[in-house]
Amino acid sequence: MSFKNKVVLVTGASSGIGAAIASKFAEEGASVIIVGRNETKLKEVEAKCQRNGAKVLMLIADVTKDNDVVKMMRVAITWSGHWGIDILINNAGIAETADIWDENAMEVYERVIATNLRSVVFLTHLAVPYLTKNKGNIINISSIGSFAPLSTGYFAYCASKAGLDNFSRAIALDLATKGVRVNTVNPGPVRTDGFQTVGEEELNKFGAMTALGRISEPDEIADLVLFLASDKAKAITGSSFVSDNGTLLKRN
Ligand SMILES: NC(=O)c1ccc[n+]([C@@H]2O[C@H](COP(=O)([O-])OP(=O)(O)OC[C@H]3O[C@@H](n4cnc5c(N)ncnc54)[C@H](OP(=O)(O)O)[C@@H]3O)[C@@H](O)[C@H]2O)c1
Repeated sequence: MSFKNKVVLVTGASSGIGAAIASKFAEEGASVIIVGRNETKLKEVEAKCQRNGAKVLMLIADVTKDNDVVKMMRVAITWSGHWGIDILINNAGIAETADIWDENAMEVYERVIATNLRSVVFLTHLAVPYLTKNKGNIINISSIGSFAPLSTGYFAYCASKAGLDNFSRAIALDLATKGVRVNTVNPGPVRTDGFQTVGEEELNKFGAMTALGRISEPDEIADLVLFLASDKAKAITGSSFVSDNGTLLKRN
């Protein structure tokens, strides 16, 4: 799968699934724009992508800040030689928890929606002219939490991801008229930095929740993303792809 001469923008590329996606696109010849707030971790991903000979633009930005997003797009477009971007991967996300009766429930909700949903809408709005010009595509990294709540305390996260899925389907219809595809990838538990902080015991608990008795590595999600971004998936738009080791199966 070659992405030579393609420009790919990945948000949340400093860690986990986003870092794996950026590295895989770089391996396949794409020029990658990697976005995140943690400069040290972004630099590591930049070096990994460059080892594969890719052109890399590293952008420090907070996707919840409109000024950062506007600036980021301006720099990205100039860097690409005004050709713009071909593939947009909205991956940055947080999974902050609260129960609905908690005092801080609304603060958590605002932060999660700002990161997981609002930022995606705004960045997509800014990127659409370039994606249209290039007949590109968008992949939004959602979660199986959009289909079912899997644990307590995730009301904000589940709402954000359900919103993301339906936003993706709605704009898939709009953008089909412009030759732009939009899909989501909905992982179950994946071993990432975000997840690692919960500890090995909790990770094993999540592994036991899956039908296959395992949790995924970020590369497995990246492989699916690259397929969907490629011409092999030219018939696919408005779809959500679950990669969850059978977690939803086991729940039903
Ligand atoms: N891991 C899982 O089990 C799992 C399962 C289902 C879905 N997902 C989804 O997969 C995506 C990636 O998650 P992950 O597990 O790889 O998490 P992770 O290792 O914690 O990475 C999250 C990424 O998002 C970035 N990010 C968060 N808030 C940001 C902000 N305000 N501005 C810019 N970047 C921001 C972080 O970058 P900085 O810290 O550098 O800002 C980091 O690169 C998320 O959307 C998550 O909901 C993960």
